Amino acid sequence: MKKILITGGAGYIGSHTAVELLKAGMEPIILDDLSNSDEKVLDRLEEITGKRLIFYKGDCNDKSMLESIAKEHKLEGVIHFAAFKAVGESTEQPLKYYRNNVGSLIVLLDFMREQGIKDLVFSSSCTVYGQPEVLPVTESTPRQDAESPYGNTKKICEDILVDFVKSKPGIRVVALRYFNPVGAHPSAKIGELPLGVPANLVPFITQTAAGIREKLTVFGDDYDTADGSCVRDYIHVVDLADAHVKTLSFLQGQEMDFYDVFNVGTGNGNTVLEVIHAFEKVNGVKLNYVIGPRRAGDVVKTWADTTKINEVLGWKPNYSLEDSMRDSWNWQKGLA
Ligand SMILES: NC(=O)c1ccc[n+]([C@@H]2O[C@H](COP(=O)([O-])OP(=O)(O)OC[C@H]3O[C@@H](n4cnc5c(N)ncnc54)[C@H](O)[C@@H]3O)[C@@H](O)[C@H]2O)c1
Repeated sequence: MKKILITGGAGYIGSHTAVELLKAGMEPIILDDLSNSDEKVLDRLEEITGKRLIFYKGDCNDKSMLESIAKEHKLEGVIHFAAFKAVGESTEQPLKYYRNNVGSLIVLLDFMREQGIKDLVFSSSCTVYGQPEVLPVTESTPRQDAESPYGNTKKICEDILVDFVKSKPGIRVVALRYFNPVGAHPSAKIGELPLGVPANLVPFITQTAAGIREKLTVFGDDYDTADGSCVRDYIHVVDLADAHVKTLSFLQGQEMDFYDVFNVGTGNGNTVLEVIHAFEKVNGVKLNYVIGPRRAGDVVKTWADTTKINEVLGWKPNYSLEDSMRDSWNWQKGLA
């Protein structure tokens, strides 16, 4: 079995990807410092897969930690999820974000070159596109100045990857630009575990439905969209996990010193109100929501052109928005 190091593998997207990697016959080796996750996810992964996954608790900024893992396992690739991701916090503590998100990539690339590990999948984000002028967003849509230090770390990391690959280190890299990951594993055993008040729409919806939050505020209903609320491309986390598996297979067929980017989304935009109504309908739950004023800095509408990932990687999403809303709610109910 090919061993793949998953940094941040105890987190939301990493844990789902571990499941899909195993299904595809690869062995995930999880490295996570548990700064935004819980070790219990390992028990949950065992319940889903029937296998205790190899787990190291540690910081991927620590090269000696990475080296000790490489001594024990012949690593064939890395998926680098580990990062801080709270946009608001990143504006208050920018250095924390640059140190972890940018710093860890530099350490990891040095480590990969020294160890001769060839393949890297990097977690980027549609945030690099800002508010695009033309929709849907293709991979050649110009990137814009980042709205936050978090968003900037993704741009900087992409630039570092481009420069690093140009120096011919003998590595193959794909940056996946995720649109909006939602949903949870259909088993309801793993899902998104936000610490504190959720910054993302769907955890806020499920926590409101569960009575943890009193009400949900929709930030603006007077934008130039179908119902006035903002539009995003919501991608089920299991589909997103599968995109990583397809990316690793694709990388193995490429020449060395290869770099490319792919959008990962459904190709469809949904408004905030459509998401709320889909949640209510599929789960038979009424949500307490109010319309509030616009929120500064919000992108009004964005969704992906997925032609490239569809054609080049042969990847397509299998889950609908309704599936995502059902799985998110089942996960939230299980948490209670
Ligand atoms: N969830 C989203 O909406 C979204 C969208 C676009 C891109 N991304 C990116 O995808 C990646 C995964 O996101 P997620 O939603 O699963 O986040 P998450 O917080 O659930 O997972 C990240 C994991 O990394 C760990 N971690 C952080 N710094 C670490 C370090 N230095 N060493 C070891 N472990 C560390 C955390 O404990 C956590 O378990 C991140 O890079 C994020 O920026 C996420």
